[in-house]
This record gives sequence, C-alpha cells and structure tokens, in this order.
Amino acid sequence: MKIKFSNDFWWGTAISGPQSEGSFEKKNDSIMDYWFKQNKEDFYNFVGPSVASDMFNQYENDIKIMASLKLNSYRTSIQWTRLVKNIMTGEIDEKAVEFYRDYFTKLKEKGIVTIVNLFHFDMPIELENIGGWTNKKTVKLYAQYAENCFKLFGDIISHWATFNEPVVPIEGCYLYKWYYPKIVDFKKGIQAGYNTILAHAKAVNIFHKIFENDKSKKICSILNLTPAYPKDNKPENIEAAEIRDLIFNKSFLDTMIKGEFPSKLVKLFASEDLLPEYDSEELAEIKKSYIDFLGVNYYQPSRIQSRLTKWNDKKEIMPEKWFENYEWPEKRINPHRGWEIHPKTLYKIAIDIRDNYNNIPWIVSENGMGVENEDKFLNKENQIQDDYRIDFIKEHLYWLNKAIDEGSNCFGYHLWTFIDCWSWGNAYKNRYGIVSLDLLNNKRKIKKSGYWLKEVIENSNEIEIDEDLVK
Ligand code: BG6
Repeated sequence: MKIKFSNDFWWGTAISGPQSEGSFEKKNDSIMDYWFKQNKEDFYNFVGPSVASDMFNQYENDIKIMASLKLNSYRTSIQWTRLVKNIMTGEIDEKAVEFYRDYFTKLKEKGIVTIVNLFHFDMPIELENIGGWTNKKTVKLYAQYAENCFKLFGDIISHWATFNEPVVPIEGCYLYKWYYPKIVDFKKGIQAGYNTILAHAKAVNIFHKIFENDKSKKICSILNLTPAYPKDNKPENIEAAEIRDLIFNKSFLDTMIKGEFPSKLVKLFASEDLLPEYDSEELAEIKKSYIDFLGVNYYQPSRIQSRLTKWNDKKEIMPEKWFENYEWPEKRINPHRGWEIHPKTLYKIAIDIRDNYNNIPWIVSENGMGVENEDKFLNKENQIQDDYRIDFIKEHLYWLNKAIDEGSNCFGYHLWTFIDCWSWGNAYKNRYGIVSLDLLNNKRKIKKSGYWLKEVIENSNEIEIDEDLVK
C-alpha cells in the first residue's frame, strides 16, 4: 500500500543544545553539567555532556549532511547557560550570540527551517540553587532570557518553542528522582509546573507583542503526550486513567491551548492542599497567551488501572495516590529503553487535537527509537542497517497519515534525532540518530534510515508500506 504526504510537509530531525553542542566555551553550568561533576556514576559509562555530539565544532558540516538528505526542517535549543554570561543579571555572552547566529544562518542558507527551543531540561545550576522553577525569580529571568533570544535571533528564526516537554523536569526533579536535584515533593512539583506555565505564558505574550505585525513568526510549546488507556471499561479504571491524563497531559495541554487549568484537576489538587501559589494577574497572563502551533513528542502511551491497594496516607503524596500503572499483556516494547511501541496512539492524539483542541496546526516534534549496540548492524561499508528504525517510522507515519486524511492539521514529522546524542543519565547507551557518531573520533556516518528518509522526500513524499506492518 502507498501513503502520501503533502508536498509542503516538513521532514526533519530534532535535537537539543545540551545533548548535541557540548559545553565548549560555556560560562555557566546547567543542572546536568553540575550533576555530572558531582555524580559521574549516575551516567552510563561515566560519559558526561561536555563533548556531546561535538556540534559546537561541527555544525557546518552537520548542516551539509542534513541538506544532502533533503531535510527541510530541524529543531534545536539555545542553551540558557551558554547565551547568558551572568545568569542573575541576564548579561549576554557576545561570543555565544555569534555562535548561534552563524549556526542558524547556515541552516537558513540551506533552506532548512529551524524551530528554536528555549528550554530543554537544562536549568542553570545557579537558579536550581534558589529553587529552580519553584521560585518566581526563575520565571522573571526566563522571560528576560526569552525576550533577548527573540530580539537577537528573530531576524533569522521564524519558528520558536518555549519549552520541550515541561512535565519531564517535574517528573524527573520533583517526583521520580531521575534528574538532579532528585527531590520527592509533589507540592513543590506542582508549584514548579505552575511557574513553568507562567514562564511560558510570559514568553508567548512578549513574543506576540514583539512580532505583532509579522504573521510569519510563530511560537509553540512542545509537549510529550502519553495518552492513558484504562485497563478495561470498569468505571474505576476509566476514572484512574482520566486522572493520569489530567495530571500529566491536560495540565499543560489545556493551559497552553485554552488558557485554562482543567477544573477537575484544580479540584483534585485543592482537595489535597496541593494548589500552588498564584494570583489573578498571573492567571490573566496565562489566559491571554496563545500558541500558534503545537509540538507533540510521541513515544509511548500509558496503561492505567485504579489502585489495587489503598494509598498509605502516612507516605509522601504522589500522583499514584489516584492510579496504578497496568502491564498490558499484549504490550510490544523497545527493550533497550523499556518503552512501549504503539504507533496507533499517534492517530488517537491527532484526532484528539482535531476534535478537542481547535484543530490547531501541529507537528510531530519528536518520535524515534533508541537502540543499544547498533554497531552489530554494521554492513561491509561500515553503514548501520537500521531496518528496525525504518519500520518503526513507517508504522507511525501510516497512522499519522490516516489522521491527516481525516482532517487533523499536522504539518510535519521530526525524528529524534539527527545524530546519536548524549542523553540524561543514559549518555550514549541508546542510539537514536539517523546519523551515527563514533565516540572515539566524533566522525559521522549516515545510517540506512537517513538514506531511506531522503528517498521518501525525493519520491514526492510517497511511502510504500507493507500491509503486515500496520494491520
Ligand atoms: C525526549 C526528550 O523525551 O526523549 C529528549 O526530549 C530525549 O531529550 C529523548 O533524549 C529520548 O529519551 P532518552 O531518555 O532515551 O534520551
């Protein structure tokens, strides 16, 4: 069977500054730099973010590779800890401006539209030391940083993102101890989440003011959506899944698109005295903000049931007071990452955006597959034969295409990621790139999936899909 995407469809890859550039010439540490200095053993093979994929030094060549693959779009992020010399005053580092201006200009010269994101988990350590997102001073400094970025690069960059996956630092830093400072405090997490939304709103409102006469400038937020499937139709399981969705998906989705917190979520948090500190001026700022498009990172859904045992109220409260994860017996997983592979959920997301979120224009801003020891798939020409990745992409594109045919307003698909990149904690364990990176000499080599994508684009966005793959 053949599927086809429109001729102006965006094809590209996404990456982040901290995971690709390395910390060369950076004047400040983010929590990730700091965490590595403190606890190297927390990182796979003791590899930290200092060199990453060496894009700080090799971006020019990397952009040529992107162009050779016919990719028309890309996303990366500015590192706050690079752009700003002095975090507390916001003083700009002119060398960093030169670097980003050249990087973004080279992309533009090759006809590659870049979505520039402002925050990808990389909180400056100085701000984390005063409470990170729990402190409104961080919100103020972020708004100033965002405004500087719009003014410094707005002549080159048309598409912007305020945050990548804002819920993840809440989960990682305040609930599940994935990332430094590994605090377990749901109430603090909610305050951090609320302040993140406020920071987003402030940035969006500043953006729309600066570019009020230029409709080509657009801003989004990038959310990782993990729709919750209840175990079955029992009301208690449906309710548990609904609560999981409210806390992890709708908290950001509804606020950023509709300008309002879901009332059921507010009631739930109020019943446990978990509401954050807020005032009416802030709520008005949030209400006023609107995004021009949405970025959706999709990796996996969640599978949910109601609690099997009563929550022990003597314990620290957690979201799991209201639900439990459920192991779906038919679940297909990527064993390297432990994440479920369920391409059809992308269709569910697309239809939900069409029906419940004003059919806002949106892009799959991340989707991808991390695989360990990919070297075992090298052929004689030293090229990684990642057919599993090609199948993974095809399956997702099939469901996306179906949703677009049915009216969902998706205009592009970005893979995570361009080149194998450093990951929080997992470092270089799982490789996601369509270009491989040799950690010994930082050499790049396009994988089979990279050439496959090029072929799709050259073939007028038409893709042949094996029916067995999508039944
Ligand atoms: C996304 C993030 O959630 O998933 C990326 O935006 C991350 O930063 C990617 O690298 C893959 O996850 P991981 O943990 O395997 O690197």
